[in-house]
Amino acid sequence: MLSWDEFDTEETAAAKPAAAAGESAAPMTLDKLDSAGDAAAHDARAVSADDSDAVARAKAALNELDIREGLEDLEGAAARVRVDEKRMINCRADLNQLVPFKYDWAWQKYLDGCANHWMPQEVNMNADIALWKSQDGLTEDERRIVMRNLGFFSTADSLVANNLALAVYRLITNPECRQYILRQAFEEAIHTHAYQYCIESLGMDEGEIFNMYHEIPSVAKKASWGLKYTRSISDPQFDTGTVETDKQFLRNLIAYYCVLEGIFFYCGFTQILSMGRRNKMTGTAEQFQYILRDESMHLNFGIDMINQIKIENPHLWDTEMKDEATQMILQGTQLEIEYARDTMPRGVLGMNAAMMEDYLKFIANRRLTQIGLPEQYAGATNPFPWMSEIMDLKKEKNFFETRVTEYQTGGALAWD
Ligand SMILES: [Fe+2]
Ligand SMILES: [Fe+2]
Repeated sequence: MLSWDEFDTEETAAAKPAAAAGESAAPMTLDKLDSAGDAAAHDARAVSADDSDAVARAKAALNELDIREGLEDLEGAAARVRVDEKRMINCRADLNQLVPFKYDWAWQKYLDGCANHWMPQEVNMNADIALWKSQDGLTEDERRIVMRNLGFFSTADSLVANNLALAVYRLITNPECRQYILRQAFEEAIHTHAYQYCIESLGMDEGEIFNMYHEIPSVAKKASWGLKYTRSISDPQFDTGTVETDKQFLRNLIAYYCVLEGIFFYCGFTQILSMGRRNKMTGTAEQFQYILRDESMHLNFGIDMINQIKIENPHLWDTEMKDEATQMILQGTQLEIEYARDTMPRGVLGMNAAMMEDYLKFIANRRLTQIGLPEQYAGATNPFPWMSEIMDLKKEKNFFETRVTEYQTGGALAWD
């Protein structure tokens, strides 16, 4: 096994000739790359009699490699990054250099997200399977809630993942935020996996559930509303850099983080978690509980990004943009109220559509104030205070007391 002492010895030995040649410790630049290490590379590439034709051709092809051509297209890549050059959008500094950090909140969320890792197969679904298959275990209204929510969420998280991977990632020009976005994208894949796992465990008609966003109006309207904002910026030709395109990007972030993840998920989460609190569908509810914890971090990350973009680009946050953002949040709230009425035609699980409407208005007021806008629903209150308790729960104090898996305790990798 290599030890640090050996590293020290080798490094010192290798560094001596350069120091003797009087080279300074100045950063390597692209002009210097041509000569650096050429002699060693030349020797290594000499074709020997043992080389196959394929190996010989690979060595010859590398002789044609122009190092500068590969690197010069990277914006700002010739220089070491200074923290004051980093920006959320339209940044010119090298995006492959993660540090020095500028946005510690983004890196911290990446670490927190990794510490909360979980997988759907760890949740025991046996009680749910027995209850779902029994004739009188659930009422028709309760079954409707389970079906509708699996229908909405099974595709909604794919919409969020696609928006991140195909649109947002490219346009956020900050490596620590991109690091969290990659983590978030993986979590969205886990969420889609969790819904698929529930649907399969319960023996549901997969086609019916996954196609619900084409067939059920209250589900389709929410999906369609979100997709409109992905479409506007996912064109590979789209780029930020003008007031109009920067605003277009900001609208996408508000649509996905404040509305899709910040409002559209809340009726369904509340319904399924309320079911779990009544000891029904506890495995499904536990899956939703973990998802909700992830989602509350996605939401907070999105709010931080939006507010940071506003700080760095105050000209974007004009009266027109504030009105548009308010309208988007109000439209989203209205669609979620309609979803609540569709999923709860009558009172069920100690709640009804009117209580949910009050809750959604309370949530909408929070979303508005989180991005610096005034509340729009005077006097809205929270009829479900237990929801915030669930969100704050630590993994080791599991709400439904099924099982605990800790990913944080794994030891360091051994090389031998
Ligand atoms: Fe998700
Ligand atoms: Fe999410």
